[in-house]
Amino acid sequence: MNTIVRKQMTINTEVMDLLNGQVKMEMHASAVYLAMASWCDQRGLSNATAFFYKQSEEERGHAMKIFEFINKNGGSAISPTVENVTNTFESLKDIYEISLDQEIKVTESIFKIFKKARIENDFVSEMFLQWFINEQAEEEETFRSILDIFELMGDKPLKLIDERLPA
Ligand SMILES: [Fe+2]
Ligand SMILES: [Fe+2]
Repeated sequence: MNTIVRKQMTINTEVMDLLNGQVKMEMHASAVYLAMASWCDQRGLSNATAFFYKQSEEERGHAMKIFEFINKNGGSAISPTVENVTNTFESLKDIYEISLDQEIKVTESIFKIFKKARIENDFVSEMFLQWFINEQAEEEETFRSILDIFELMGDKPLKLIDERLPA
């Protein structure tokens, strides 16, 4: 019987490439939320500031979860370059709208990888991605409910709106 010297890769190669792409996407989201936190912080919007610093950390956490998963399963995780991060925003509402768009794109991307894992019979990745599917549903819901607050508050001063926002 041959000795297996190198740990066999348990995840599918194409799925691994998609997962590395997802690491990059999560790190990009983290950088965008950081820029948003800074915008809010400069305007003294304390709840929104705390919220976006926390979001930025969470996205980094997502990236790391995938990163470690790839390596743990015999693959090669790639540290991504993060480009195209804007630091200018039109308004606070604009920030939350961009955030929801970003979350929707992440959800679509996760679905795509999930489908690929299913087609390739990569059950390990499929099971791993289930957590992300639940997480995305929660995150989209969070941003949708925040945008509802903006609808209710109309054109009230920013600081008053901020007081109603989750930190
Ligand atoms: Fe994420
Ligand atoms: Fe997210």
